[in-house]
Amino acid sequence: MVTSSAPGKVYLFGEHAVVYGEPAVPCAIERRARVTAREIDEGLRIHSEDLKLDGFTVEYDGDGAGRPDVDASEPLLEAAMGYVNEAVAQVRDAADVPDAGFEIRIESDIPLGAGLGSSAAVVVAAIDAATRELGVELSAEAIAERAYQVEAAVQDGEASRADTFCSAKGGAVRVEGDDCRTVEGVDNLPFVIGYDGGAGDTGALVAGVRSLREEYDFAADTVRAIGDIVREGESVLGSGDYETLGDLMDFNHGLLSALGVSSRSLDSMVWAARDAGAMGAKLTGAGGGGCIVALDDTDDALTALKYTPGCESVFRAELDTDGVRQE
Ligand code: PMV
Repeated sequence: MVTSSAPGKVYLFGEHAVVYGEPAVPCAIERRARVTAREIDEGLRIHSEDLKLDGFTVEYDGDGAGRPDVDASEPLLEAAMGYVNEAVAQVRDAADVPDAGFEIRIESDIPLGAGLGSSAAVVVAAIDAATRELGVELSAEAIAERAYQVEAAVQDGEASRADTFCSAKGGAVRVEGDDCRTVEGVDNLPFVIGYDGGAGDTGALVAGVRSLREEYDFAADTVRAIGDIVREGESVLGSGDYETLGDLMDFNHGLLSALGVSSRSLDSMVWAARDAGAMGAKLTGAGGGGCIVALDDTDDALTALKYTPGCESVFRAELDTDGVRQE
């Protein structure tokens, strides 16, 4: 039996623009998914208690046939099972054991679908744990590539490499198309995360930006300007100049707002954090609902967000320099 864990992430800069070939800088956070894999004779057994799926235990024969009788909404269940199924397919391929059976247990303290990379963290940890269980040790890069293939398969090709690479490697990373690399020299970023309890529809939000960009040149300019913010931001990332980073985050949020992907609750959390003295604040991920990330090394933004209407939970999450690891 092997347990591995992998971190979630926030976007310091660059979501949405990354879809059009601009760079993005996601950062791993100290919130993890833990996956335990045990080899069994055949099939797949999946247990999950913390995926905001109201707790479910699934037992099925591994070919995906038949819906298990569990108390969770169909889309969430299908999504969770789709990710685990595809991850196990990658594991069988990597270890060259096409019939390997597994019992998989998933625990996660990353809210689902809220822009914090929960599915990527589960997939990365599952691939690591299950391949190790079969005696195969993959590099973080190989796990990232296989996890990306899983996300692309489950999300009909609509996946960037940002989440999976960041979760596998940890730290701050830079993703531009297929080019993924670690940003060296970043070991501390004081993130505060506000969560409105909801989630945006990533597909619809991406489609909305795509049509704005096609309709208006200034929307295309806005996407390019986000790329400029990322290029500026990465040059100050290692310096510890949080004030400049915060200003750039504020700017990035404004441009995302202009592209129509913020929401009332995200904006009010962003403003609450700024008013409390955070160095910067922006939405993270697809938007529409979910999480904001603020940069604050005091407790002020955290306290302010606790009392902000629309903010369901708030927590501090330092940059996690560790990627996937065996527990
Ligand atoms: O909400 P998340 O964490 O899945 O991030 C979506 C980020 C987008 O740039 C909007 C889409 C993508 O695949 O990069």
